[in-house]
Amino acid sequence: MSAWTQQLAGRFLAFEGPDGSGKSTQLARFTAWARVQGLQLVEVREPGGTAVGERIRDVLLDPENTDLTVRAEMLLYMASRAQLVETIIEPALRAGHLVIADRFVASTCAYQGTAGGLPMHDILRVAESAMGGRWPDLSIIFDVDEQTAAGRLSPLLDRMERKGAAFHRRVREGYHLLAEQRPADTVLIDATVDEDAVFEALLQMLQRRLTN
Ligand code: TMP
Repeated sequence: MSAWTQQLAGRFLAFEGPDGSGKSTQLARFTAWARVQGLQLVEVREPGGTAVGERIRDVLLDPENTDLTVRAEMLLYMASRAQLVETIIEPALRAGHLVIADRFVASTCAYQGTAGGLPMHDILRVAESAMGGRWPDLSIIFDVDEQTAAGRLSPLLDRMERKGAAFHRRVREGYHLLAEQRPADTVLIDATVDEDAVFEALLQMLQRRLTN
């Protein structure tokens, strides 16, 4: 294992981005790559990742739940997160594993905060309780414009994906804002280019950050 790859052990990375950003494809490539490097890793997704969390996910993404308020939505995402942090993420990090999350708290800031209109301090207060202040070491945002993202979505849209173009434009703005406000632990990657180029940019960014 090369020196910089070893640095990934015991770290917590979150893969983030608007719906249709290609983040889950990049996450699958990255976990396969990390295993080949000999890293022990734990992969989780949000909402979900635990038995209870997966049930919360069903509620959150069910297109029939049209009357769910943004505040209740935020609390459900956080409840799923609290369960995941305490039962899976913290033990894995303590054991020195690399933890890779498909979405985490940056999603709540972008979707329920900037796009949904909830004040950021409300979200951060609940986040403090749900995650014990445990932000990922790095939130990696796969950044795409709306048209590219829309073209990558499957035609069966879930409740969040049905929120429309203006909402998803604000989600992207929310991610940009977060990257400006938290440059130490939040980074944007151009995800409009082809899959191989995005993956190459991801590895280069990680190597740069871990060797500086
Ligand atoms: P996924 O499709 O990437 O699995 O994510 C599920 C949806 O949930 C996606 O539309 C983003 C949304 N989401 C939020 O709105 N807030 C959150 O805190 C999280 C984790 C996801």
